[in-house]
Amino acid sequence: MAIKTIITEPNKLLRQVSQPVDQVGNYEQKLMDDMLETMYAANGIGLAAIQIGIPKRIIVMDICKEENKKEPKYFVNPVIKNKDPLKATYEEGCLSVPNQFAEIDRPSKCEVEYLDYNGKKQLLKADGLLATCIQHEMDHLEGILFIDYLSKLKRSMIVKKLSKLKSNTAIL
Ligand code: NI
Repeated sequence: MAIKTIITEPNKLLRQVSQPVDQVGNYEQKLMDDMLETMYAANGIGLAAIQIGIPKRIIVMDICKEENKKEPKYFVNPVIKNKDPLKATYEEGCLSVPNQFAEIDRPSKCEVEYLDYNGKKQLLKADGLLATCIQHEMDHLEGILFIDYLSKLKRSMIVKKLSKLKSNTAIL
């Protein structure tokens, strides 16, 4: 496994629409292993492949809050089958939008069809943080970031802040 570099906003790659995976093979499994290790190293709870520069419809997640316990979840080609009209609000952040947080409304429950780590078809009924997280990650597959739900002004302030941070940072 290897820790990859997480791409941060502003970056055109994050706006790219990711492509479906034909079949879950060794390459995809190794990619999921690397994504999971990268996510854990960055203290994240979800990561989409495009965040490490790979435009494939693959997501890894682990929302387990217990320390020293791991409950990784893998989603390949996820599709939302059902969304609850009732909304839930969570304060969201994103590894690609470092140190920025905002309250976002999303459907409180959803059903997701996907392929798991072994390429087996699965259906997940999600609510709470799991529902929010899977929707946030699935947005990445469409090139959407959580800050896109904010007002234009708020969003441009965040992007400006992040651009400034980037230009002042020398990674040696
Ligand atoms: Ni994110």
